[in-house]
Amino acid sequence: GAPVEVDISSLQEGEKLTVEWRGKPVWIVKRTKAQIAELPSLDGQLADPQSQRKPDEFTPPYARNEARSIKPEVLVVVGICTHLGCSPVDRFQAGPQPSLPEDWKGGFLCPCHGSTFDLAGRVFKNKPAPDNLEVPPHMYLSDTRLLIG
Ligand code: FES
Repeated sequence: GAPVEVDISSLQEGEKLTVEWRGKPVWIVKRTKAQIAELPSLDGQLADPQSQRKPDEFTPPYARNEARSIKPEVLVVVGICTHLGCSPVDRFQAGPQPSLPEDWKGGFLCPCHGSTFDLAGRVFKNKPAPDNLEVPPHMYLSDTRLLIG
């Protein structure tokens, strides 16, 4: 499939934009400074905090960092659960929510078998999903224009 160009100039903090690339949903999420700052504190609860499993498949070199992104505030991930391919839902707000841990900091929840992911798409421990959400190949054409693929 052809690369997809996306204008993210109107994306606000706490918002998610979905585009289609190669028939898959790709999520572009603008994280707040507080959300970015919280990521390292979650490492102990995650299955693969440094994205070391199958890096060539799931995390390009420029996203092998704490925020799994080129720009810390902008997350770009494929919105498909790495377990059996369901589409996780987003829960960006912190705090207690039904079926989520009390200290939930926001992220993604797969409704099929309960895998949870943080706001960098990193999977929590002891969940059926074996891997973090895939970061697709992408680059910035300008400050607000993203090329996916
Ligand atoms: Fe997501 Fe099974 S498909 S947890």
